[in-house]
Amino acid sequence: MEAIRVEGGRAITGEVTVEGAKNSALKLMAATIMAPGVNTLTNVPNIADVHVMGKVLKRLGASIAVEDEHTLRIDTSAVDKWETPYQLVAQMRASTAVLGPLLARFGKAVVAMPGGCNIGARKIDMHILGLEALGVKFDIDHGNIHASTPNGLIGATVTLDFASVGATENLMMASVHAKGTTTIDNAAREPEIVDLANLLNEMGANIKGAGSPVIEIEGTEGPLHPVTHRTVGDRIEAGTFVAMGGLVGGPVTVRGFDPRHLGLVLKKYELMGLDIERLPDGVTVSRARPLTPTDIQTLPFPGFPTDMQAQTMCLLALAGGSCVVTENVFENRFMFASELQRMGASITIEGHHAIVHGVPGFSGAEVKAPDLRGGAALVMAGLVADGYTTVSDIHHIDRGYERFVEKLDALGAAVDRVEIPGPVDVTEL
Ligand code: EPZ
Repeated sequence: MEAIRVEGGRAITGEVTVEGAKNSALKLMAATIMAPGVNTLTNVPNIADVHVMGKVLKRLGASIAVEDEHTLRIDTSAVDKWETPYQLVAQMRASTAVLGPLLARFGKAVVAMPGGCNIGARKIDMHILGLEALGVKFDIDHGNIHASTPNGLIGATVTLDFASVGATENLMMASVHAKGTTTIDNAAREPEIVDLANLLNEMGANIKGAGSPVIEIEGTEGPLHPVTHRTVGDRIEAGTFVAMGGLVGGPVTVRGFDPRHLGLVLKKYELMGLDIERLPDGVTVSRARPLTPTDIQTLPFPGFPTDMQAQTMCLLALAGGSCVVTENVFENRFMFASELQRMGASITIEGHHAIVHGVPGFSGAEVKAPDLRGGAALVMAGLVADGYTTVSDIHHIDRGYERFVEKLDALGAAVDRVEIPGPVDVTEL
């Protein structure tokens, strides 16, 4: 079984350029269903989740040519199916992002009900409620969602209970060809939402307000037209390297993203004692002072991103004092904290609060990646731990970080991928 092993104590300095955003690229790929023809997406990260979404599109009838690793030419002219199989949705919940595009193109869709994952139930009730307001009828049968539009898609005003990223995206895409105007209130404001709206408008849609809490979509007739579009830089991959540079001391320059997409994270990191120099396409981070404890609470953008919670807790676990990290977005996203305690962290979990008591240092240990970001944060902890840290279950990390080990190695870390024994065979004594 593959694992990442890191030896603590090395300085990491230099420059790293992040890829396009995973949490945009997957939706941009889904949206090409709405523009029959050859769409070219550039700056697409070469990661496992993109490969899964590629399989979903091919299963629907699309063909995909990969050029120079980060450019996908997706031809959706021959898409003639509207059903996504369970095994692909189970592998990647984001496959549900094809629901809106399939409804827009065919007026129907069959999508497997996504199961939960390590960080929470990951329901899609807000997607369903919002789409029902647009005239979609749902039947749930044997774990599959059967969606149809007997009277077509009709524009409506939808107010989301919570600024859900996925629900905002599916509603935005489904309403592109609805009759009349759709208003999404309490919409998610993430930069990835803006990137998707930009793509749809380039294809001929009429969307206003993306990035604000109120998005207005004017329904348009006929299919959208194919385009070439560059994926926005990955602010979370960037934030992960910023946190690492701040933890070890740097200076590390992280390029390939817009620092405004990490606004609150960078402000909090400065409060915690990191020195951040903002650049047009990134930041330079260093630290010369002890880490200062700072309370964090995760919220939808522009609040503190939940996808930066584990990386930030890693920093706070070594701060000179105690603070509270509150996770408001997912109901079970503190498993990273339990693994970090194996390395010597002192963290008390009380519901959706984690009380973090800073300790002088970590000791290397064998730990398991609980999810994508927690896995990256465990490797981060290993950079400063005493001795070796081995992180297993690294398929989580490969889902969202391209060449993670190579990038860290280039910054000077002592890190590599190793083979470790798999689970013990318990079929007999
Ligand atoms: C997206 O997930 C991202 N994934 C997540 O990134 C990110 O953490 C999340 O947005 C929040 O920013 C992708 O874009 C592929 P939500 P999504 O709908 O769309 C609940 C990563 O590490 N909810 O905003 O699923 C839901 O269970 C991943 O890159 C409902 O209850 O997030 C969660 O608790 C992890 N009903 C909360 O809302 C619904 O219908 C936020 O979910 C929809 C969501």
